[in-house]
Amino acid sequence: MNVLLLGSGGREHALAWKLAQSPRLDSLHAIPGNPGIAQYATCHDVTLTDHAAVIDFCTRQSIGFVVVGPEAPLVDGLSDSLRAAGLPVFGPSRAAAQLEGSKGFTKDLCARERIPTAGYVRVTDLATARAALARDFPRPVVIKADGLAAGKGVTIAFTDEEAEAAVAAIFEKPGGEAVIEEFLEGEEASLFILTDGVNIVPMGSAQDHKRVGDGDTGPNTGGMGAYSPAPVLTPALEAAAIDTIIRPTVAAMAKDGIPYSGVLYAGLMLTRAGPKLIEYNARFGDPECQVLMLRLEDDLLDLMLATETGELGSRPAPRFGAETALTVVMAAKGYPGTPETGGAIRGLDAAEETGAQVFQAGTRLDGDSLVAAGGRVLTVTATGASVTEAQAAAYRAVDAIDFPTGFARRDIGWREVARENG
Ligand code: AMP
Ligand code: GLY
Repeated sequence: MNVLLLGSGGREHALAWKLAQSPRLDSLHAIPGNPGIAQYATCHDVTLTDHAAVIDFCTRQSIGFVVVGPEAPLVDGLSDSLRAAGLPVFGPSRAAAQLEGSKGFTKDLCARERIPTAGYVRVTDLATARAALARDFPRPVVIKADGLAAGKGVTIAFTDEEAEAAVAAIFEKPGGEAVIEEFLEGEEASLFILTDGVNIVPMGSAQDHKRVGDGDTGPNTGGMGAYSPAPVLTPALEAAAIDTIIRPTVAAMAKDGIPYSGVLYAGLMLTRAGPKLIEYNARFGDPECQVLMLRLEDDLLDLMLATETGELGSRPAPRFGAETALTVVMAAKGYPGTPETGGAIRGLDAAEETGAQVFQAGTRLDGDSLVAAGGRVLTVTATGASVTEAQAAAYRAVDAIDFPTGFARRDIGWREVARENG
């Protein structure tokens, strides 16, 4: 089978690495790809928003299956266009991707189906937002701009001034929409589920680190590191999340005529009252995907195809290795603000000789040299018998990399390392 992978990040490098191991794969193509993905795939320049051009590409290359890595093409309805042209896809339709694309859609679905989540109100004007903030929500309060925001649309306001600034910013431009919600206390964990629209199978858990600085300080990012599994999401809590959150969501989507297929990524808050949904994503996390792929023992292509053919229920659940995988993001200085691009990167071979996998995110080739070309540049991923050991292995590989204009957090996995070491 000829497979097309869409995307260009560390997540897609990890997917390409794993797809390349499939005995069912004849050739792998990527749009647009990156130098890491190019080790396994032929990379092409096609504009993903030009659906006709993507379909034309698939016809010319005899593509039999399209794997969508990032959320933007899903929310843009590329899966619908591809399916209408007879091409099977890993990833939900535009309507189903609203679970990620519209926070209001998801909150309303949770309310209808009594799915545990933070109490909320949807607002479309500043006066209503101010009234709700004054009357219904104590501080801290969570204010979210609706629509895709790459993790940057959420404010946790501890004071009235912060809350006012957040809603004022959302309603500055006409057409602003916000969700105001109750602040949940607990530890966060991510749960990944594969579904064909009816059947659901667990695809692993992870915890990530969203803040840029050590000790979880500084601004939010797309994620500075992650590990899998997340021991805080015990088997009992995972089962509770599947029963009270995932299963009713997948059933409601099917009932509403917009069945969800692909991977469903649930961001959970483990509260004293049990797991509550913070948000859904319609794709694998980045860098969570990298740690899941290192642990996955089954054929990824086979699993992905089953989400499209509806055969997920008739096969065993995905198997994962017992080891912990941990990934450290090496970012370019300046990230999550304006990153310094063009900086030289050396030593990836030395890093991989330690046993780690270096997945490339924001890189490009400048002649024969690999240079930084984005905010998050590398995700250095290793396994170990515990989080402590996986962390040590990942940092051994990080330390073998020579990337003077880059930086990394030094404490990925700290919560679990502290628990493991009493
Ligand atoms: P989101 O984009 O919805 O995932 O939100 C980004 C981050 O904000 C989450 O990972 C949480 O750390 C935090 N957050 C979002 N909603 C809440 C909430 N209701 N209570 C506490 N923290 C939240
Ligand atoms: N690492 C968080 C995300 O992919 O949304």
